[in-house]
Amino acid sequence: MTSFTYKGISLPVVDYYSEETLHYAENEFQMLDDDIVCVTYPKSGTHWMQEILCLIWCDGDPSWVQSLPVWERSPWLESIPGLQCALQSPPPRLLASHLPFHIFPKSFLHSKAKVIYTVRNPKDVMISYYHFSKGLKIVKDPGTLEEYMEEFLSGSVLFGSWFDHVKGWMEMKDRANIFFITYEELQQDLRGSVQRICRFLGNELNSQQIESVVENASFQKMKDNKMSNFSLIPESIFDHTKAKFMRKGISEDWKNHLTVAQSEYFDRVYWENMRGVNMTFPWE
Ligand code: A3P
Repeated sequence: MTSFTYKGISLPVVDYYSEETLHYAENEFQMLDDDIVCVTYPKSGTHWMQEILCLIWCDGDPSWVQSLPVWERSPWLESIPGLQCALQSPPPRLLASHLPFHIFPKSFLHSKAKVIYTVRNPKDVMISYYHFSKGLKIVKDPGTLEEYMEEFLSGSVLFGSWFDHVKGWMEMKDRANIFFITYEELQQDLRGSVQRICRFLGNELNSQQIESVVENASFQKMKDNKMSNFSLIPESIFDHTKAKFMRKGISEDWKNHLTVAQSEYFDRVYWENMRGVNMTFPWE
């Protein structure tokens, strides 16, 4: 599998990604004031947040999330088909991105577009990414978990280093048009989280509508919804017999996979990288 590197992140050479598209997304893409963008490092709950945002967008009515694939409802800025879809979508647009801040559209800095950044315990991100990579044909085989942990901690996985991604976005945390939330908060209190997101978006829903968002964004509902559960991804990209996208949907699954020594090693690298970050996360 050959890959190319764009400003520190490595992506596979496939029909899906190109240097030109990343350059366009970064430098030419015009972010509009009424755009809403779901931003994450991969495996942090991106599709969950996209589903929540789509449901809020429709005042809790699930017919949109049940009838159109998630990548058409909220296209990816950095992929070739996603960018085309985004450019063809009439405003207001719902968008998604895994881009680190230093590659994110520069026009964002001069717009009122809203970003919702979801961050997840990196140990759970790594476990989720490891399993996902077993099915993803556009990346090399992840090998053993021990081997994969080295790749993850050094940032040589798709979309680069978790640490750089999170730190880059955290530096923007005082901007009024960026909302930070954790996967763990969604887990602990989905209703309260939805209410906070609605407030940030300036789209207050009534309690029945909120209830519908919560119900339709549940793990089971999304697992059963072929527009959201990845089952429409072609076999050429994802081997559905080797991995499940809607895998477990829980927090702290890392405890079922990492030895004490592996976890301690992870913690050491974590603190080497996160020292000085002025933010406390639920897993710390
Ligand atoms: P696991 O592999 O730990 O189960 P992303 O969308 O960023 O790729 O993240 C995928 C992860 O989010 C997977 O984690 C998936 O199961 C989880 N997920 C997706 N929808 C969810 C939901 N409604 N509730 C809880 N977790 C969800």
